[in-house]
Amino acid sequence: MMVKLFSTHELKDDSAKGIEIDGKRLFAVRKQGEIHVYWNRCPHLGTPLEWEQDKFLDGDNALIQCATHGALFQIESGKCLVGPCRGKHLQPVPFELADGVVSVAEAVLKRPSAI
Ligand code: FES
Repeated sequence: MMVKLFSTHELKDDSAKGIEIDGKRLFAVRKQGEIHVYWNRCPHLGTPLEWEQDKFLDGDNALIQCATHGALFQIESGKCLVGPCRGKHLQPVPFELADGVVSVAEAVLKRPSAI
């Protein structure tokens, strides 16, 4: 069964959105029309990334930024480019996009790796 996360019109280009569902924390970023979804966990210390609600991006909206120690991640790959977790990756969440709705399989949310 699929669980709806959000409708694409709720996520503008160059912005991000935090999502909490069934106690799991994820976030989505949209860049050049493409949507990327990751677990909301910094590979450095495992903390949530945002510094304010839905604030996951740096000042230029070019990179994902961790609020704790400022690590910067590529939006498309989740790779940490700068910071204490350099070279590590945010963990992507497999999702489906159909009829303007982004959803995730219930089984994905139940995986032990889900946070
Ligand atoms: S917890 Fe994210 S950079 Fe340290």
